[in-house]
Amino acid sequence: MEKLTGLKKIKTAVFISGTGSNLKNIIKFSKIKKSPISIDLIVSNTNQAKGLIFADQFKIKKKIFNFRNTEKKILLLLKKEKIKFICLAGFMKILSKEFIKKFDGKIINIHPSLLPKYKGLNTHNSAIKNKDKFAGCTVHYVTATLDSGKIILQKRIKITARDNSTSLATKVLKQEHKLYPAAIMKIFN
Ligand code: GAR
Repeated sequence: MEKLTGLKKIKTAVFISGTGSNLKNIIKFSKIKKSPISIDLIVSNTNQAKGLIFADQFKIKKKIFNFRNTEKKILLLLKKEKIKFICLAGFMKILSKEFIKKFDGKIINIHPSLLPKYKGLNTHNSAIKNKDKFAGCTVHYVTATLDSGKIILQKRIKITARDNSTSLATKVLKQEHKLYPAAIMKIFN
């Protein structure tokens, strides 16, 4: 990947759709000295996303788009805000090929499974139903094919006999909060 590092932190947007625990975690990480990125914009596809609260809490600009024929507007905003890197964090919309091309190699996503296993939704249910021994999470580059871009980092988590999809989701999310900053560090260092 083309090096984006300089003296200044790389202006980054985080795209969310829900609770935003990864968003909060990435914002906190971005504030430490060694972080290569700063979070300058939060984009959500819904005003119902609980994570939008972190925009107010951390005084970060937020914008809501419904992602139906709005990608051009989003790209304009990203340009205006000089955004150079995008982190998808619980973002549940699929970006168009054209959008991804404009940020080629500069969009990453966190997915709650050990990709290439269980792309898409209901990853924890699938892992429990299939009696998998391990679940996990993956940070990967975003390409035009869903959940299929090059893997940056992955963390494996043991599934115990007592786990159900809810307990597994909690365990995986905890690891996601470690994995996402580690993946960002890996990209830029
Ligand atoms: C996380 O588990 C993330 O991996 C998953 O949604 C959750 C969002 O939690 N993302 C996907 O399923 C993307 N396909 P958060 O809003 O608390 O960060």
